[in-house]
Amino acid sequence: MAEFDVYVTRRIPEAGLEVLRRELGGFSINSLDRALSRAELIENCRGRDGVLCLLTDRFDREVLTAMASRCRVISNCAAGTDNIAVDDAAAMGIAVTNTPGVLTETTADLAWALLLAAARRIGEAERFVRAGRFVGWDPMLMLGTDVHSKTLGIVGAGRIGAAVGRRASGFSMRILYCDERPSAELDAMGAERCGLDDLLARADFVSLHVPLTGKTRRMINRDRIARMKSGAVLVNTSRGQVVDEAALADALRGGHLAAAGLDVYEEEPKIHPALLPLENVVLAPHIGSASRETRERMAVMAADNLAAVLKGRHTLNLVRPAAGAPGAL
Ligand code: GLV
Repeated sequence: MAEFDVYVTRRIPEAGLEVLRRELGGFSINSLDRALSRAELIENCRGRDGVLCLLTDRFDREVLTAMASRCRVISNCAAGTDNIAVDDAAAMGIAVTNTPGVLTETTADLAWALLLAAARRIGEAERFVRAGRFVGWDPMLMLGTDVHSKTLGIVGAGRIGAAVGRRASGFSMRILYCDERPSAELDAMGAERCGLDDLLARADFVSLHVPLTGKTRRMINRDRIARMKSGAVLVNTSRGQVVDEAALADALRGGHLAAAGLDVYEEEPKIHPALLPLENVVLAPHIGSASRETRERMAVMAADNLAAVLKGRHTLNLVRPAAGAPGAL
């Protein structure tokens, strides 16, 4: 019999499940090919020693309270942990872990894919060709905006922001960044650290890489969008709630912004209805880390984190230790 009762909220790559079998002797798993409802989440997580979950599972105080009598760890198979009330979890004795680092390069690749697609109108061009509207080369057809030699503004200079900056050198771009802390990696590339409003006023491309917190929620609001350089492009691969989508749609429709590339939305999976008809926004379904290799690494890391906490081993990926546990404040 398995030593610990753990639950996996949705199918993840097999390599992660293999870690759970090897380390913990087994697990229970959601067999439905969809995220669990809130009621299902509570019902299935109650009475478990640990839960391996995804960013679509919301662990608020009420859900945590239902699990707290037994649960020792929630292992999020994601870098962001805004889906979990981590302070409440810690206070209830539940450690929270995440999967940073392994998705950095893959997410930076997607930010660049969106940036290039938005600048060069790739989504619109593809729809045009598929609709049978390409009738010959045209000197005025689908004119976009150059990327090379322009100014890239990186908001949030953590691992992913720095990886996005690294890619910009191949495009001979100037880099501006804003963050509470300086980034040694971006500084070494010759990037200039500045305030957010300064960055928005000067950058041709703005790419968002901040976690969702009280401070960053709606950080790119109507006022800040108005301060962006006319003709700029906004890319968001962080969290949808960082941007006021209605204000963004207005700026795209009115022509103040040339384009946007979005992977994340304020109310996923809903897309703001004002964005959908716009040709100048590239919309992706939250696939920042979605390469086979990276999703496998995330699953293994999440499973390792879960087993480490349950077996009392050290894990580097503790977002917040449980109150009273080693490392807790
Ligand atoms: C993806 O959005 C993640 O936080 O891992």
